[in-house]
Amino acid sequence: MSKLSKLLRTYMLRRGYTVTRAQSASGTEDYFLYGYADGSGSFDYERYKAVQTEGNKRKIDNVWTDRETIAFICDFLKGRGQPLRRGLCHGSRNGTEVRWFRELLGIDVTGTDISETAANFPHMVQWDFHERNPDWVGKFDFVYSNSHDHAYDPAKALEAWIGQLAPEGVLLLEHSTSHSEWGASELDPFGISPKLLPYVVLKFAGGRYCVTDLLEPSHVRPKVGRTWIFVLRPNLRS
Ligand SMILES: C[S@@+](CC[C@H](N)C(=O)[O-])C[C@H]1O[C@@H](n2cnc3c(N)ncnc32)[C@H](O)[C@@H]1O
Repeated sequence: MSKLSKLLRTYMLRRGYTVTRAQSASGTEDYFLYGYADGSGSFDYERYKAVQTEGNKRKIDNVWTDRETIAFICDFLKGRGQPLRRGLCHGSRNGTEVRWFRELLGIDVTGTDISETAANFPHMVQWDFHERNPDWVGKFDFVYSNSHDHAYDPAKALEAWIGQLAPEGVLLLEHSTSHSEWGASELDPFGISPKLLPYVVLKFAGGRYCVTDLLEPSHVRPKVGRTWIFVLRPNLRS
């Protein structure tokens, strides 16, 4: 997205309007998915990794989420009355949300990032969140991400994240209007509007998991606007 269109969209957002793409490049009407095709039309994983790593380094000191939202999520987790022993955050850049979860819950929380800069931050590991890690399967009482818009294959990423949940565990996706189609780009390949996210999850999940709750923090962040926390759980009958 060019700087000018970003400026225009932010201007409209602050006045209560959203601008949406008239047509999705993925050919579906539901969401936008950037292709990363190489010269022969095949998926270019090295390009994806290079783009993500460059973006990570350029914005390494930025924090997208805020402590108030993480505290709101922690209150939800504590209120469930289920065991809280380990958490996992995907696409955590400089590990700030990992630190907040650790402070607020007093438990072991790990963060992932595709960039090698992960090694510079405590409790962060370099890992592509699409990939299944045998050591993580079924181990976490919660998995959190606001970086699902960086997935080249969101269905694959969600499948891996759901598989990382311990019994009674929850997957928490923090989503904003800037995660919509209009916010998608080579750096943020997956764009989906908040209202369509549960519908698309339904399509991805094939009955194996579903959205069970919607949490709505009441505060509005100056640059981001409102965010929603979608709670996903495995479907135990599948
Ligand atoms: C928008 S930033 C979010 C940072 C952080 N969660 C925050 O709230 O400040 C997205 C991060 O996801 C990382 N990322 C992108 N693709 C990834 C992947 N496939 N696996 C793990 N991390 C990824 C990027 O390197 C970047 O640091």
